[in-house]
Amino acid sequence: MAAGGAPAVLIEVFGCQMNVVDAELVLGRFAALGFARSTAYDDADVVVFTTCSVRGHAEERVYSRLGALRRWKAERPGRVLAVMGCMAQREAQRITRRVPHVDIVCGTRDFPALPDLVERVRAGRAGPRPLVLVDGRERPDAARRPEARLRRRQAYVAIMRGCNRACAYCVVPGARGREVSRPLEEVAGEVQALVAAGVVEVCLLGQTVNAYDGQERGAVTLGTLLRRLEGVRGLRRLRFITSHPASFDADTLAAMAESSKLDRFLHMPLQSGSDRILKAMRRGYTLERFRAVASRVRALIPDMRFGCDWIVGFPGESEEDHGLSLAACEELRFVQSFVFKYSPRPGTFAAEHLADDVPIEVKKRRHRELLLLQERISLEENLALRGRIAEVLVEGRSRLDPAKWSGRDAAHRIVVLDDDRLAEGALCSARIVDATALTLFGEVESLAEAPA
Ligand code: 5AD
Ligand code: SF4
Repeated sequence: MAAGGAPAVLIEVFGCQMNVVDAELVLGRFAALGFARSTAYDDADVVVFTTCSVRGHAEERVYSRLGALRRWKAERPGRVLAVMGCMAQREAQRITRRVPHVDIVCGTRDFPALPDLVERVRAGRAGPRPLVLVDGRERPDAARRPEARLRRRQAYVAIMRGCNRACAYCVVPGARGREVSRPLEEVAGEVQALVAAGVVEVCLLGQTVNAYDGQERGAVTLGTLLRRLEGVRGLRRLRFITSHPASFDADTLAAMAESSKLDRFLHMPLQSGSDRILKAMRRGYTLERFRAVASRVRALIPDMRFGCDWIVGFPGESEEDHGLSLAACEELRFVQSFVFKYSPRPGTFAAEHLADDVPIEVKKRRHRELLLLQERISLEENLALRGRIAEVLVEGRSRLDPAKWSGRDAAHRIVVLDDDRLAEGALCSARIVDATALTLFGEVESLAEAPA
């Protein structure tokens, strides 16, 4: 119970940025029902997990955290434990079997109803538990309350949900359904409201964000939205994730080049440098096509940098295939790589039809090799920035040294600054004086006006 007698809700976010948005949506509704937010389990009356299914490891983490909450639940009668997100959608029955102290399981389109369900459970009006809700058709984003946010100056905005692609390894189409874009003006209104509430940086989210069509295919693209958001006063920075290499259209690329607010960082996963593996993954492009897209982007926006996701040890991946991934990483000079060991997910094409035949030791070595290569590239790229001026948006205190500030440059690289005049949300020009593979260190040269 929070001070003042209001019931308290704690929300724990696993998985991707979409889960952050979903958590904020749910928190907004809880706040409207009179709940306070808590970050301490001892104080919490309600705990909500937003879960991820993308790899087996992600699910096991959730199960182990849920198991650890048995004591919490038993300690005080009336406490409520709820699970939402991709794992809730995919394996509601298994969750209720493995974790009998879970009260509510809410799928990826049902969670807007979660706070009201919790209220009913707390009032003893919900009937037998667990309650499982996984077949909803709600449009969750329409209910966003801009004041309910996990971060003060930055916000994620879901512009579409679901995914129409069918990558052989991926649970997302199964967990999140078909693509549905939000209308352009609805998104613009949300961004405007967030900026009015103090947000300076917005990251637009979609599983295949560059397939955004505002429900007006042919008339609206992600580019239309970027142009619309360019006019939002007070919005300083804009990004979008995740782009699919085969989904860019010419208008969107042109709008990206025109934008003064867009980050110079594009997260565009290649996944593998081998055409044979890309085909088996059903990614819908070859390395050559990826190269062509990257070149087109760089021709229009010379300072654009790319970030990548890789899966190592996909079924059938040979040493030669892996070598092609290393070569592609070197050639394309990504500034950031997330590397994942292939994890067969029940219900996906790969798990059902392809043998998980790369031994775990080999997956681990390939994982290490790609990460080490990325580290070397990042270090080279970062050292080359010494002496240059970067525009930095301050995100908060540096985690390693809380006396200093940490922000991001336009290519989304972390920049640590030591200057008393800074504050969260401040924008400044800084000269880069030193660098590691992960961090740039800068000295403030000039400060833009302080944010309200
Ligand atoms: N195994 C390993 N990595 C996966 N990813 C998605 N599905 C799997 C899987 N089954 C990775 C991809 C994706 C990122 C979010 O997670 O690289 O881009
Ligand atoms: Fe995890 Fe994918 Fe769901 Fe995000 S959309 S929570 S990454 S499974």
